[in-house]
Amino acid sequence: MKLIISMTLLLTSIGQTVDEQRSGTTLGTSGTEQTKLNRFAPGETWPDTLGKHIQAHGGGIILRDDTFYWYGEDRTPGAQTGVSCYSSKDLYNWKHEAVALPHSALPADIRDETFIERPKVIFNPSTGKYVMWMHLEQTGYHFARAGIALGNKPEGPFTFLNHMRPVQYDFGYKDNDPDRQKEFGGTYRDMNLFVDDDGRAYTFYASEHNATMYIVRLNEEFTAPETPIVENKTWARAFIGKYREAPAPFKFKDRYYIISSGCTGWKPNAAEYAVAENILGPWQTKGNPCIGEEAELTFRSQSTFVLPVPGKPGCYIFMADRWTPRRLFDSRYIWLPFIIGADGTFTIEWLDNWDLSYFDKKQ
Ligand code: DGJ
Repeated sequence: MKLIISMTLLLTSIGQTVDEQRSGTTLGTSGTEQTKLNRFAPGETWPDTLGKHIQAHGGGIILRDDTFYWYGEDRTPGAQTGVSCYSSKDLYNWKHEAVALPHSALPADIRDETFIERPKVIFNPSTGKYVMWMHLEQTGYHFARAGIALGNKPEGPFTFLNHMRPVQYDFGYKDNDPDRQKEFGGTYRDMNLFVDDDGRAYTFYASEHNATMYIVRLNEEFTAPETPIVENKTWARAFIGKYREAPAPFKFKDRYYIISSGCTGWKPNAAEYAVAENILGPWQTKGNPCIGEEAELTFRSQSTFVLPVPGKPGCYIFMADRWTPRRLFDSRYIWLPFIIGADGTFTIEWLDNWDLSYFDKKQ
């Protein structure tokens, strides 16, 4: 116990030293107003505006007017996983707005056994609703369902709507499948949402026990798959049998991109990116975008989201999680910049710290 406490203190003090450098000021104790940050420091603790390490793991970001909202897993020790919402105008300083979907909002019949991973939110202009999708899971990872929740404001509160496996497709079901896919549909695990330029939304997710990624167009409300569901028209299988997870889709000009990871649990592995002319595929795999030391481990992290930098076409922030499985709340954020070149390719390199002027200098 003593060892755990002193290691925690050590980690906190290391974090503080780096954060002091980052803002040029002393980090206050948790609960006090912080001096503004002006840089990203991948892998360090990232204090919110009250000095607490941000709890938005496996998350994603939306921009509404001039405010970014960051949603992710709230892994606060002692609490069951809910979905937190932070806001920022500059991407460095994040205010904790709320637990937008507390664990207690899950339906009573599954609540006790179920936890939330990789929540994402998109806004639906026709309904005026914020729509949250998430991977709902239980011990053993066989529950593997999508959860959907709706909010009237970015910070919520979100109301839980439904849980489902969006697609039922006979890919060759195994007998005694612990995931019960013949009965319930293909598993829904690591996931993301993407809204195309035409306003149509898609969910990307690792299905078929993670072997194959599914890309599914959503209905007008963004609350379920578009029906009737027709393979290669409203949904498609991609990276068949390749075991890719942690999908982070984005678009540049008329081309679709996706960064994903391999499937090695909480342990990091090499990222890979792929490109397509049509969102439903075919997808052409391009290899690992990461370069330099630890590129084969995605700098000890796993993709979660790619954020387009507003007003800078071709400029993106790669968002990834450096997981600490036994202390998930202390998992760190790896945010790194990248720019798509004239030939449509890109690389991601490690930077100890950086700011948004990176995109001005490089263009
Ligand atoms: C890898 C996934 O990307 C994470 O979100 C989490 O589900 C872990 N696997 C669990 O082992």
